[in-house]
Amino acid sequence: MVGFGVVGQSFAKLLLSRSADLYSEHGIKPRIVACVDNKGSAVAPAGLDLQRLLEAKKTKSTVGAYDKGKKEFDPVQVIENVEAEVVLECSPTDLSTGEPGTTHIISAMRNGKHVISVNKGPLALAFPSLIELANYNGVMLRFSGTVGGGTPILEFAKRCLKGDRIASFRGILNGTTNYILSKMEEGMDYESALADSKQKGYAEANPSLDIDGFDAAAKLVIMANWVMGMKVTMKDVKRTGISGVRSANVKKAAEGGNAIKLIATCDSKRLDVAPTEVAKKDPICVNGTLNAVTFSSEHSGQQTIIGRGAGGMETASAILRDLIEIRDTIFER
Ligand SMILES: NC(=O)c1ccc[n+]([C@@H]2O[C@H](COP(=O)([O-])OP(=O)(O)OC[C@H]3O[C@@H](n4cnc5c(N)ncnc54)[C@H](OP(=O)(O)O)[C@@H]3O)[C@@H](O)[C@H]2O)c1
Repeated sequence: MVGFGVVGQSFAKLLLSRSADLYSEHGIKPRIVACVDNKGSAVAPAGLDLQRLLEAKKTKSTVGAYDKGKKEFDPVQVIENVEAEVVLECSPTDLSTGEPGTTHIISAMRNGKHVISVNKGPLALAFPSLIELANYNGVMLRFSGTVGGGTPILEFAKRCLKGDRIASFRGILNGTTNYILSKMEEGMDYESALADSKQKGYAEANPSLDIDGFDAAAKLVIMANWVMGMKVTMKDVKRTGISGVRSANVKKAAEGGNAIKLIATCDSKRLDVAPTEVAKKDPICVNGTLNAVTFSSEHSGQQTIIGRGAGGMETASAILRDLIEIRDTIFER
């Protein structure tokens, strides 16, 4: 596991709380054999004691305090030298460079290790080449947690709509901007709604990733590649954020029975993120930090999936789904 922040620690807690039923229901006993954060690493080929690992992180702020033995601090060295089947990439998202995640993912796949990434950066910037590299090395690359947190948006499209042809989809893919726009609909101005979202911990100190539409665009790219088979990256997305939305626009939309939402759209002609008027009775028109995506399929019509788009434990549950899928696929081969 590379990165032991909110998501990494939630995954460790999830494994601790679910160990009995994971074995009885799925026949797996996952062991984390190495964990790296930005300050150190912990390695134990027989499996780290997760309670002790969480304690080391909590009290000494690094997993390097797990034991006193000699250890590698470079994540790439750990990825290459430690025997493991899967690498979990949980380091911070950087949508300009994709690093450090891209280097971690490439090193893992070149070493014959499957990868589960919750980090959007590498996928948003280099999805087609990463999938190619995974195929070339005969490993799986999974990334359920990058879109919709724990809400199985990617799986819904890929599995539940299997056999049908998805012609287009559109959705609200960023919870922070949806919260801000929902508050504006309740009467707050843009600046107060942004300040409120920061105070609640939804928006970062530098909120540009969310309000300028980068985060939604990154998720749109991942979906367009995975669900629609496109070969696109961030530079192919036309992107407009919400900073130009004024209270007067929101009020005018409401008078017509609509709401303004930051909508990501993908069809044969469009790949864009922009503030858009949506009818309040449209199932996609959810409020607060919720995400929602409507898929339009050739035979089964329209379906909308709604759920929380982020959160440590929600995203950890997506990692677990990916892990079970990788195990099942290995067994089927
Ligand atoms: N939180 C969510 O709800 C959520 C939802 C979906 C996806 N994600 C994605 O999941 C990833 C992790 O999110 P998070 O909320 O857990 O972030 P976080 O709390 O900031 O944790 C990031 C972790 O990565 C470590 N790290 C930083 N640079 C590193 C490097 N060069 N090598 C190895 N480890 C490094 C940090 O180390 P230190 O602890 O030593 O600083 C920290 O443990 C991000 O890409 C994020 O976009 C998060």
